[in-house]
Amino acid sequence: MKLFIMKNYDEMSRKASDIIKEYINTKPNLVLGLATGSTPEGTYEILKKEANFKEVITFNLDEYIGISENHPLSYHFYMYKNLFNHVDINKKNIHIPSSKGDIEKNSKDYDFSIYKKGGIDLQLLGLGENAHIGFNEPGSPEDGSTGSVQLTNSTINANSRFFESKSQVPTKAISMGIGTIMKAKSILLIASGLKKAQAVKNMIEGNIDINVPASFLQKHSNVNIVIDEDAASFLKKK
Ligand code: GLP
Repeated sequence: MKLFIMKNYDEMSRKASDIIKEYINTKPNLVLGLATGSTPEGTYEILKKEANFKEVITFNLDEYIGISENHPLSYHFYMYKNLFNHVDINKKNIHIPSSKGDIEKNSKDYDFSIYKKGGIDLQLLGLGENAHIGFNEPGSPEDGSTGSVQLTNSTINANSRFFESKSQVPTKAISMGIGTIMKAKSILLIASGLKKAQAVKNMIEGNIDINVPASFLQKHSNVNIVIDEDAASFLKKK
């Protein structure tokens, strides 16, 4: 794991977008895994202005089950609003897990389309307060493929800030599995703020533990972790 501790959120976003831009410059038809949440918003803001998505192929990590794709809080909506509507990406190269219809079939098809594109070159990840990656909650298997997942109370609470009330937060999602994520050739995880400090510490300095999903990344051979000083505050070694 290569760790970059940046001064603040803006510098974290700058560093993360520079890494992604470098990958795209090296391979214009990059297979790029994308994440949602507040953390990548700054990164997307920069990529919108500076990156060339003409040939880039994207695969998003996850989507809620129980709200439609055009719901303003769906991850489909988020991605178009924060990135896709503003870049020159070919719409047929955009992939986001579908929570419509047969989830099991959609999940298998999703993993197969990643495979058909030659696998993910670079996967961008955020980090849940409970160290989830994608929507892989504590207890998720290391070799899990894309599928339907039950969200934990901690994640529902954390994500309720976007909804009118906690009862409106979907309780299920479709997510790439940890196995799917681990197959990416390289990974870029970003995290910001004190709320993530414990998860960051457990991910980097803790044991590999099924209850700390992000700790599995210790086994991956090409991981860049870009965090701000607040998120790094519990780390012993800096
Ligand atoms: C969400 C998403 C994750 C994201 C995480 C952190 O539940 N499924 O992909 O990384 O929570 O979100 P945020 O960046 O808003 O803190």
